[in-house]
Order: sequence, then structure tokens, then C-alpha cells
Amino acid sequence: MEERIVSSEERRDEAVMELSLRPEALDEYIGQTSVKDNLKVFIKAARLRNEPLDHVLLYGPPGLGKTTLASIIANEMEVNLRTTSGPAIERPGDLAAILTSLEPGDVLFIDEIHRLSRAIEEILYSAMEDFCLDIVIGKGEVARSVRLDLPPFTLIGATTRAGSLSAPLRDRFGVMARLEYYKPDELSEIVRRTGDVFGIKVDDLSAEEIARRSRGTPRIANRLLRRVRDFVQVEGKDMISLPICQKALELLQVDRLGLDHIDHKLLLGIIHTYKGGPVGLETISATIGEESMTIEDVYEPYLLQIGFLQRTPRGRMVTGQAYQYFGLEASTE
Ligand code: ADE
Repeated sequence: MEERIVSSEERRDEAVMELSLRPEALDEYIGQTSVKDNLKVFIKAARLRNEPLDHVLLYGPPGLGKTTLASIIANEMEVNLRTTSGPAIERPGDLAAILTSLEPGDVLFIDEIHRLSRAIEEILYSAMEDFCLDIVIGKGEVARSVRLDLPPFTLIGATTRAGSLSAPLRDRFGVMARLEYYKPDELSEIVRRTGDVFGIKVDDLSAEEIARRSRGTPRIANRLLRRVRDFVQVEGKDMISLPICQKALELLQVDRLGLDHIDHKLLLGIIHTYKGGPVGLETISATIGEESMTIEDVYEPYLLQIGFLQRTPRGRMVTGQAYQYFGLEASTE
């Protein structure tokens, strides 16, 4: 799959940058107001009772700040944060090693929790519910089961697909929080904040321009800002102003809605070859030469979100709004 500047996945070289941009308290975290308001109450109540916070499931598209929220929760609870991910926990022993090394009240963050194996999930059930671990020692006739007590802890799971968690696992989270795409004014605020951290001035119009092209996603906003900053510095300037910001974004080939050539290829492909649809996913896949799963998970969500594409029982359809955006007449046949 091609690298895209508007991809919502974290790139390898971005992890360090994201860490330095991460807000440390809920009050510094921009957007996701209802999630934040709820968490504030739950954290305060848990602290009053001197208990660990209930287990929390954060779900929603990539790049919206699930990892950031987990680290803020640990900060606000004044406990340690342990971070791992579904694919990293391969054997029951891996999970047991992590759980037995926690201190009371600690937060264990499991990213991509939907990718845990079934066997590991089952160990988690009793760990989450009763803070204990049933492990089998030995094999065959000498095998026996031992119960280990665990310190009370908070599990924070993150997933882009809440639907693919098994029901027993989902039911063990006391708090479920869905993160939403950010509004343009929230993204502008994030861009201005990141500008401050980078030590570069960003005028309001430029912050809004970058926000509009960031597909509702802070990770993309911060990435675009970083690239625009490169252009500005190469031109010997110390401030991001609208003309240079627009020029940079044009050179980066991100249009005024944050669409890139792949989005154009997908939409115009359906418009020109299939009169706007409906057309099946597999057919689109063959037409534009991309795997259908990639189209579904990576290319389509934002196009569905802005109402340029619809999923219908007969296949995908490009909407009138998208025709208008490209200055085309919708087919009336
Ligand atoms: N950086 C990335 N996401 C953020 C957010 N929601 N608030 C503040 N800074 C951020």
C-alpha cells in the first residue's frame, strides 16, 4: 500500500514527536468534550473511594488520541502506566508477566485489543473481574492449576473496531468511550498548540486551513503542520501565514477537504466507469487495483464521514455532494 500524507496511521518516525506533543492533563486535552467530562467524574469518584478506576474501553478511528487519553488517565490517577498491544501478547506467560508486575492501582494499556488471541482473552476475564490469574503449571498427568492474586488495576483497551471484541470481554469494561472525529475549530486549536510546542508562529487563518484539510484527525493535522513548517523554514520565514501555507499544502497534494489523489482516483473511478454506482466492493478493488480490505478500512471511512460515498445493499454509490465538489453533473440514468 502507498504511503499517504493523509493516512491516519502513526508512522514510525512520528512516535517520538507524538510523545512530545502529548497533553498531560484532561484540561489540556482539546475536544472529545463528553468523553472528557465523563472521565473527570469517574476519576474523581475513584480517587475519593481510594479505588482503581473501572476498566475503560476507548474505541474509534485511528489518530484521534486513544493512547494520549490512556496516559492522561494514568497521570490523573497518579499511577504508573504500562503499555502493550494485542499482537505483542503472544503467550499466556507474556500476559502473566505483565499483570504480576503491576503495582496496586496501575493502568495497563492494551492497544489494538481486538487482536488478542482467544486464549489470552480468556485469561483476561478473571484478571479483570476478580483480580486473579488461573494458570496451569506442568503438562499431562502432573499438570495442575494455580490461582495467583493480582494487585487491583485498571485495564484500558483501545480498538478501532469495538464490534470485533467478543461480548464477554466487552462486558467487562465499566466505561466505554467512543472517540469522534474532531471539529475544525478543535483541530485549529490543536494546530496552534502544536505550533507553540514547535516554537513556530501559526496565524489563525493558516491554523484553520490546516484544520480543514486534516480529515478530523489530530495526527494528520500535526503531520501537515510539520511539513508546512519545513516549507516556511526553507523560505527563511519564522511564521506560517496563509499564502505559504496554501502553497505548501498544494505541493503536498492535499486538497481543500483533505482529499489526496487516492480519494480522487476512487471517487472519479466510480463516477466515470460506473456512472457513480452502485458498484460492488470487489469490482472497485479490481478497477483501481487496491485490496478490498484496504479500501474498506483505510480509504472509505473518511469519504463516508463527509458524505461523498454511501454504502447501499447493492454496493457503493458516489453522492450528489461529491459530484458537486468535482464540478460534475450527476448521472440521471
Ligand atoms: N495532540 C493530539 N491530540 C490532541 C488533543 N486532543 N488535545 C491536545 N493536543 C493534542
